[in-house]
Amino acid sequence: MNFTTIIEPFRIKSVEAVKFTHREDRERALHEAGYNVFRLHAEDVLIDLLTDSGTGAMSSAQWGALMQGDESYAGSRSFYRFQDVVRDLTGFAHIIPTHQGRAAERILFHTTLHAGQIVPNNNHFDTTRANIEVEEAEAIDLVIPEGRVPAALHPFKGNMDLGALEHLLAERGDRVPLVMVTVTNNSGGGQPVSLENLRGVRALCDRYRKPLFLDACRFAENAYFIKQREPGQATRTPKAIAQEMFALADGCTMSAKKDGLANIGGFLAMNDPAWAEACRNLLILTEGFPTYGGLAGYDLEAIARGLEEVVEEPYLRYRIRSTAYLGEKLMAADVPIIKPPGGHAIYIDARALLPHIPPQQYPGIALVNALYVEAGVRGVEIGTVMFGLHPDGSETPAAMDLVRLAIPRRVYTQSHIDYVAEAVIAVAAMRDRLPGYRIVEAPKVLRHFTARFEPLR
Ligand code: F0G
Repeated sequence: MNFTTIIEPFRIKSVEAVKFTHREDRERALHEAGYNVFRLHAEDVLIDLLTDSGTGAMSSAQWGALMQGDESYAGSRSFYRFQDVVRDLTGFAHIIPTHQGRAAERILFHTTLHAGQIVPNNNHFDTTRANIEVEEAEAIDLVIPEGRVPAALHPFKGNMDLGALEHLLAERGDRVPLVMVTVTNNSGGGQPVSLENLRGVRALCDRYRKPLFLDACRFAENAYFIKQREPGQATRTPKAIAQEMFALADGCTMSAKKDGLANIGGFLAMNDPAWAEACRNLLILTEGFPTYGGLAGYDLEAIARGLEEVVEEPYLRYRIRSTAYLGEKLMAADVPIIKPPGGHAIYIDARALLPHIPPQQYPGIALVNALYVEAGVRGVEIGTVMFGLHPDGSETPAAMDLVRLAIPRRVYTQSHIDYVAEAVIAVAAMRDRLPGYRIVEAPKVLRHFTARFEPLR
């Protein structure tokens, strides 16, 4: 018999209660938080889809591995186990643990970038962009045109525009120290990059003698999309596909808080020995000795085990399917989302849903805040607040105004997701009544985390 129901590939051994609140409580909490859901107490959130980063549930095997952690300052056994797993997966010579992804980015860019240089990517994530701009270099997004249109269908919407990359390398290649590709492309909707496209980027990097780094946070989800969608890949294991993705690159930055299935951690990996040495020296200055890099021995154990579990096929089938399930419910109700659904999140096109709110009155914030007040669901704006502010202090509309509902790994069940879909559809039905917002105060970089807003009435 062939059963078609895709079930959670785990059973639940320990549970954490969620707190139910009333609408008035949430209205008050949001007001006190300056209308910025980042400033809420997480306890006041019913279903938290702010991020899939560090919010996953660890397996019993990972919790067991914690007890195996070797907390030696130098040369810890846990480091060598971590290094073996990362090396087997990525093939890179130098494995440098960091406390999370942005630490890997900072160390890589501070070591390799000078003012005035350029780093191309399909789409830079916000911390990646900020870590490039802080070095007074330029972060350029070169995703394919389909990747910029929420409703455009494409199996690999995260692909790099090879023509645009070639043009950049030909015209200004002397200013490009390295090329990056983000898998999956978070800022572009959690969309995958094909092996064929990665091979194309590799060929250009070879021609112009540039190293290629993956931002590998969601490498396993990307590998599973390749298995499902790329001709000739269906019979390969996700791990074999991931290994080929890494083999096409010269290094990577990684946040183990995503496809490491851990609550903290990350790494920087590369083949170049001179860059690796310089990075390790900076690591010692700010993160820690090279065999722990700001992590406890038990964190390294949890990541090592997580990297093995994340490429298991039953896990990835469930993971990608459960995200698509939410997307399909919203599409059936005509809520505009980025199509097709991405790997870790559903991205609602807030600009399309709320045409009466101009980008610089932040339709994404309007939708996020309504979802919280009406249903206790916390999403995040990925739009003009996050990306609209430039280093010179000016503001322009971001390419898209999206609201991301990121799904923590192995945390919520199908009925939680049914509730989220019901909530989004209910808020969409009252769209005309949602106000825009203005910023009352905000810092000059990464303002979305701490800005305070006020509704426009
Ligand atoms: N690159 C990408 C593509 C990311 O999505 C993130 C984090 C990072 C780098 C930085 O990693 O958080 O470990 O320092 N994204 C989280 C998110 C925060 O919500 O999408 P980090």
